[in-house]
Amino acid sequence: MPRKLFVTTALPYANAAFHIGHMMEYIQADTWVRAQRMKGAEVNFVCADDAHGAPIMIAAEKAGMTPQQFVATIAAGRAQYLDGFHIAFDNWHSTDGPENHRLAQDIYRALRKNELIDVRTIEQFFDPDKGMFLPDRFIKGECPKCGTRDQYGDNCEACGAVYAPTDLLNPYSALSGATPVLKSSEHYFFRLSDPRCVDFLERWTQDGRLQPEVANKVKEWFSRDESGKSGLGDWDISRDAPYFGIEIPDAPGKYFYVWLDAPIGYLASLYNLFARRGLDDAACDAYLAQPDLEQVHFIGKDIVTFHTLFWPATLHFSGRKVPDHIHVHGFLTVNNDKMSKSRGTGISPLRYLELGLNPEWLRYYIAAKLNGRVEDIDFNPEDFIARVNADLVGKYINIASRAAGFLGKRFGGLLSADLGVEGRSLLDALRAHRATVEELYETREFGKAVREIMALADRVNGYVDQHKPWELAKQPGQDALLHDVCSVCIEAFRLLTIYLKPILPALAAQVEAFLQVAPLQFADAGRSLGRHAIAPYQHLMQRVDAAKVEALLAPPAAPAPALPGGEAIAPEIGIEAFAQVDLRIARIVDAKAVEGSSKLLQLTLDVGEGRMRNVFSGIRSAYAPEQLVGKLTVMVANLAPRKMKFGLSEGMVLAASHAGERAEPGLFVLEPHAGALPGMRVR
Ligand code: MSP
Ligand code: ZN
Repeated sequence: MPRKLFVTTALPYANAAFHIGHMMEYIQADTWVRAQRMKGAEVNFVCADDAHGAPIMIAAEKAGMTPQQFVATIAAGRAQYLDGFHIAFDNWHSTDGPENHRLAQDIYRALRKNELIDVRTIEQFFDPDKGMFLPDRFIKGECPKCGTRDQYGDNCEACGAVYAPTDLLNPYSALSGATPVLKSSEHYFFRLSDPRCVDFLERWTQDGRLQPEVANKVKEWFSRDESGKSGLGDWDISRDAPYFGIEIPDAPGKYFYVWLDAPIGYLASLYNLFARRGLDDAACDAYLAQPDLEQVHFIGKDIVTFHTLFWPATLHFSGRKVPDHIHVHGFLTVNNDKMSKSRGTGISPLRYLELGLNPEWLRYYIAAKLNGRVEDIDFNPEDFIARVNADLVGKYINIASRAAGFLGKRFGGLLSADLGVEGRSLLDALRAHRATVEELYETREFGKAVREIMALADRVNGYVDQHKPWELAKQPGQDALLHDVCSVCIEAFRLLTIYLKPILPALAAQVEAFLQVAPLQFADAGRSLGRHAIAPYQHLMQRVDAAKVEALLAPPAAPAPALPGGEAIAPEIGIEAFAQVDLRIARIVDAKAVEGSSKLLQLTLDVGEGRMRNVFSGIRSAYAPEQLVGKLTVMVANLAPRKMKFGLSEGMVLAASHAGERAEPGLFVLEPHAGALPGMRVR
């Protein structure tokens, strides 16, 4: 019986194009799914746009569109990314589709029948400037658990805590900046604190189906207080109109909170897929209810709570099968730069494709870095170029290019069936790794799989180096050996291609055409080609052009804003970089001209240190010494002292000017407002 899998990736918010972090999740899941299919599994692999919620509603309004139009424009852009990187979803749908409306309402009714829905009047933040209840994402403040600032009202991106917006410390409206006021409104709650839910979830999260680090993290959320009360709070699942979402049955003006209907969208996409195949809802119901169907969700580490508490509880208490696995991955950074969820990073997946960079280079690189744990991985451009050029092209592709020419020219493209003792034992060694490679794909240890496969490629290259086909080709009477050696290379190349195919599907298709074989499966590793004709070799993969990678990482050429003086704003820095500059208020105790310099004034500065500082400043053309004596100014107090012709300069005084202007009337020394004292830090 083939393994049956229903696999999803997280549904991306339909308010922005994909960034490279999204592509990482899709590449991980797609690689896993392809490996399963190559083992004969029956997989339904689906995703959808997460269409609902206040942020999308507000973004649509700003764009002058209805939310439906807005979401449709985002959805229309998805295919070029997915096709471009060979992500083979069976279906892409939307949480605003009719299937999701029906399913969410059905599920809600089942929960209500199970007495797990409560209605309570709660106080909610209201923006007095905007005249509306503030959606969670538009209330910001400090996380009540860890104190991190500027966190959204639903969960903390720093510590993962989930809370109500009213739990935030020092809240403010992200729409208007106003301090929100509390206003009461009726809300619907999923009673997760019910002992049935707590018991179920404690078992479900700790029965070994989650990664150990995820299970441990989740465990903390169950911690009980002295009275034995579980740490799980009830979950507020309603929002007041106006809201872009699904109406709550029998509750006019109330909508499901987006995170209630979003994961239900996994199911909706599957029902939609069944409908596209001409199958009805009953067929999909039956499919989903099969005990041996495995339901697998790939997600990032930021949305674990929703998938390990709310989602299994939603399914279980509405009488459905629960997920079998939640595969959580870390985040992708670029040059160790944490990308913002909304802004992405400097790498645009579309620009990557437009520059003509091979999508499979990225798939290979990401796979080479991934493991089965919740670890962040980094895209490093030099590392990317090195791994693709040295390993993928230099080790693997090279095997085919070293052997194929001779086979075509000397043997009519026909492989030898003999291969020799040594050749056969090399191939047997390669075949013996099949189970390991399959297992590494299964456990999402793609980095280990790649290392394993490249070690095998090393052995094949060792065999080539030892037998030197290019020398055999020149020696008379060595035709049979040359034929065997080249045939061994092609057979080895076929085996390595099988092992790499989940990561490199397009390349594998080219190889299949070159070898004139049917689509390769893992089971094909157990066979050999024998006396088989291959097509003429055409180069399979180029090396990475470093200039293109540089272009990819170059900040997008934004038109320089027209500033007076024409000087563009310097590249962005973090607050840490600024904090390294120690700026202090200084009193100019003395100022005098420097003999032999038309530019410099010699300043004696007091920064409250109990000693004076000597500073040479290039402001002579703009100020007479007596204009400055006694005045306060700002200096860089931790600048390395500089030895000048006239003596040691122990800092720098700040002055404003346009680019290139260093003289009167275009140079202005900074002076603080009255009351500042020498030694005060400027921050
Ligand atoms: N809409 C929700 C998910 C609903 S699932 C029922 C959401 N959308 S998202 O667009 O913000 O994120 C989609 C997926 O991309 C999540 O799994 C998230 O963890 C993942 N990633 C977002 N940024 C990422 C990286 N920098 N690196 C890797 N994955 C990242 O959350
Ligand atoms: Zn926090």
